[in-house]
Amino acid sequence: MSGYGRDCADIVRAARAGTYKIGMILGSGLGSLADEVVDGVRIPYSRLTGFPVSSVTSHSSELVAGNLGGVPVVILSGRAHYYESGDAGIMRTPVETLKELGCEILLATNAAGSLRSENAPGSPLILSDHINWSGLNPLIGEEDEARFLDMSAAYDPDLRAALAKVARETGDPVPEGVYMWFSGPSFETPAEIRMARTLGADAVGMSTVPEVILARFLGMRVVAMSILTNYGAGLQSHALSHDETKSVAMTGMDRVKQIVRAFVMEVGHG
Ligand code: HPA
Repeated sequence: MSGYGRDCADIVRAARAGTYKIGMILGSGLGSLADEVVDGVRIPYSRLTGFPVSSVTSHSSELVAGNLGGVPVVILSGRAHYYESGDAGIMRTPVETLKELGCEILLATNAAGSLRSENAPGSPLILSDHINWSGLNPLIGEEDEARFLDMSAAYDPDLRAALAKVARETGDPVPEGVYMWFSGPSFETPAEIRMARTLGADAVGMSTVPEVILARFLGMRVVAMSILTNYGAGLQSHALSHDETKSVAMTGMDRVKQIVRAFVMEVGHG
């Protein structure tokens, strides 16, 4: 089973020749990081066969290839979520495209709900691991033995350390935590949030996990960072909303951008 990654990589290379080091998938409200890319090309997903066009209002749905801090990067500004299609493999072609373009590293960002009072909305969280209790997996249907993918160190320890280091060097330290994937699109119930905490989660969200599985399947090294936009259901007094996700993600964006920029320079010149 494979997507259209090779075809899409050809389209990107036709627009801008080169090989790339770091691929990024940017979640809700974080797309403006793509504005920092210099010398780049922007290609709308609608021109890339097999790329999903996200229906989520804060996602811009374009691929940006260029230089960030002197490092050749490909930014996927906007992702598709499982809840838009019911297809856990919806991000297969985009992740394949990053790999085909030479990206050895995937950096994924997302917006997530915090399960810990000390990790306040507006602040970032480095993912140390995930819990996929959904029963879904983008590798279901894969026939090759490679489907039995080792996930012991899915979030690369060295890249996590590099992310934590550049965070410390540029501002407040950023904690690590376990991200639990829920399908969405409804938010969790308070009982589900209590369950997630009991199971060892520090944050909850509706994305990233399928992409991480796909990227590991393709042999990429993975690192991921959330911007916490709210406390999980039942842990805050007001109702959860996508408006809150978008607006709080905005407030934390400058810090995330700063960390990502520093991270790219730290690991991209090696
Ligand atoms: N739950 C799931 N996804 C989210 C949340 C949440 O509380 N906040 C932002 N994305």
